[in-house]
Amino acid sequence: MHRTNMDQTLVLIKPDALKNSLTGYVLSQLSEFHTGLRFAGAKIVNVSKMLAEEHYAEHLGKVFFPSLIEYITGASHYPDQPWKRRVIALVYQGENAPKRIRELAGPTNPHAAREEKPGSIRSLGTLVDIKDASGKVIGQRIDNLIHASATLEEAEREIKLWFKPCDIPPLMRPYQTEICHEHYYYKDGTILYQNYEPGSVCLMAPGDTVWASDMEALKLHTQGKPTATTIGSVAAKYLINQDSAE
Ligand code: RTP
Ligand code: MG
Repeated sequence: MHRTNMDQTLVLIKPDALKNSLTGYVLSQLSEFHTGLRFAGAKIVNVSKMLAEEHYAEHLGKVFFPSLIEYITGASHYPDQPWKRRVIALVYQGENAPKRIRELAGPTNPHAAREEKPGSIRSLGTLVDIKDASGKVIGQRIDNLIHASATLEEAEREIKLWFKPCDIPPLMRPYQTEICHEHYYYKDGTILYQNYEPGSVCLMAPGDTVWASDMEALKLHTQGKPTATTIGSVAAKYLINQDSAE
């Protein structure tokens, strides 16, 4: 059996798209008929601050970062309805998946999208002023309906951040997996090796299929050795939709 076209990309249908009932429109724009891409994963996610900050880690420290986190967690669009705060996370698979979806998404800024690529998904987005405590405008939040991985490398990092291997059908998984032989728990930013404590969440248990890179990171972490990835980037997906996740 020869599997071809295993390129993958992560798409997030963001809270502004959900609020404006544009989900069906986005899904139809991204359908296999238009893109040649197949669904490989899908989930409804209440985005924790931890997951949001890991996902947008490259923007940490920028003036728009706090508003970006409020936006992707759903706090901006559903300030008084926390139960409506969610995104739809999708994995699409097929040749040049990141590029194909970015083309349909259009430029990051909806004003630029309307100018340069009318009809693209983000041409339906908007800009919202960001104000400081005194009410002075200090920047703009870009509400652009969807996130789409820019490259295959970015897609790998992001898909592993949002999805466990078992969220993706076995023959569609593009990254190396391993069977776990230990228990790893997580509590308050710390990995607990083997020992359950009340309030902790089990990240991995013996017999679980896990991303090999996550397994490696947890092993190094419990040995006190430096890791290329943060603990949050491994733990965040296991905390998705858990009662304890903020
Ligand atoms: P995304 O990651 O969401 O697919 O967007 P992108 O690659 O087109 O743009 P990126 O530079 O990665 O920015 C990520 C998200 O941050 C918000 N943003 N705001 N106010 C600003 O100057 C600014 N720049 C970026 C947008 O919501 C953008 O989608
Ligand atoms: Mg980006």
